[in-house]
Amino acid sequence: MQLSRRSFFRTSISAIGATAAVSALPFPAEAFAIGEPQRANQPVGPVLLNSNENPYGPWPSLKEKMRAALDVGHRYPDAQCETLVGKVAELHRVSTDQVIMGCGSSEILRVCAEIFGGPGKTLVQASPTFESLGHYAETRGTKVRAVPLNSKFEHDLEKMGPAGGEKVGLVYICNPNNPTASITPRKAIEAYVKTLPPETYVLIDEAYHHFALSSPDYVSFLDHPVNDPRIIVARTFSKIYGLAGIRLGYAVAQGETAKKMKAHSSYDNVNIVAAKCGIAALDDAAGLAAAIKRTEGDRTEFIGQAQKRNIMMVPSQGNFVMIETGKPVRKVIDYFKSQNVMIGRPFPPLDTHARITLGTPPEMQAFWKAWDGMGS
Ligand SMILES: Cc1ncc(COP(=O)(O)O)c(C=O)c1O
Repeated sequence: MQLSRRSFFRTSISAIGATAAVSALPFPAEAFAIGEPQRANQPVGPVLLNSNENPYGPWPSLKEKMRAALDVGHRYPDAQCETLVGKVAELHRVSTDQVIMGCGSSEILRVCAEIFGGPGKTLVQASPTFESLGHYAETRGTKVRAVPLNSKFEHDLEKMGPAGGEKVGLVYICNPNNPTASITPRKAIEAYVKTLPPETYVLIDEAYHHFALSSPDYVSFLDHPVNDPRIIVARTFSKIYGLAGIRLGYAVAQGETAKKMKAHSSYDNVNIVAAKCGIAALDDAAGLAAAIKRTEGDRTEFIGQAQKRNIMMVPSQGNFVMIETGKPVRKVIDYFKSQNVMIGRPFPPLDTHARITLGTPPEMQAFWKAWDGMGS
């Protein structure tokens, strides 16, 4: 049976004991609804500023390839996958053995939870951060220790070291971090990794890499790799490339680590449309540069609008912004929903912050109109 994101999480909850298990988890049940039930297209559907998608959709060059790929939909995707892996390897100057493809980077997260977790092991991650890995880990009996971000919304690396005799199998560093769009400086992460015991692996999730390139503190662990078999770096085609629905992601790791990860990945996990789109995306440097520039412009516009209204924000290095609403976020979410604008789910413990994905200019106009109409 094919599982959707929503049904997957429902299934995994029921597998570990339904309601009791939900209340025992550190995340609210709502956090499981990573997607929204209604994914209707614009302009008739709601304005979707809730999932950090690229609101403009795939670039024209990718759409063309996507349509053409349907003609070979009756063939297995081996050859196209091989080409894609070669392109990814070339991009990051690694060998093809070091590239692990995923059905979205979500699969990479799931595979890491499987290999580096289990009863008796701990996953250390930030709070708040992207929840998927924590959920996958918990369903495998891994203890999850969530360490609050520091006052600058960076990972509090001093507190993320092993504590109280725990066996840390994996540390998750989401950089830029979802939901805060904040970054943790590369230098600090590098120093931190050196303090970890040899059996502790580190997954650096660079899903929002392309939106952080203008920050001097942000340096990717892929573009400037360190020689350490414990480091895994994940990337996705869901954000800057606008391919969230196509499901394509990957990780890069050193030989033995990559081999283990491939053994836990699904066979043929990249379909032929995804593979062809991925190849086209990596071939289109101009499309990438334009997409980055456009999002940076949208972010600058958002910041200007927020400043006009004296709204406090976490400095953003993402395609989304975490803003202080001064109100319980659940109420804010419900209010926006009543205005046909969907914004990000609650991210405890930031109970008055709301995560807003940057939309197209008309979508942002709808957002600000709703904001201005929100009572106190
Ligand atoms: C930080 C982070 N990592 C991974 C993912 C999963 O992305 P995908 O499975 O679409 O590649 C997301 C999705 O929003 C995310 O925010």
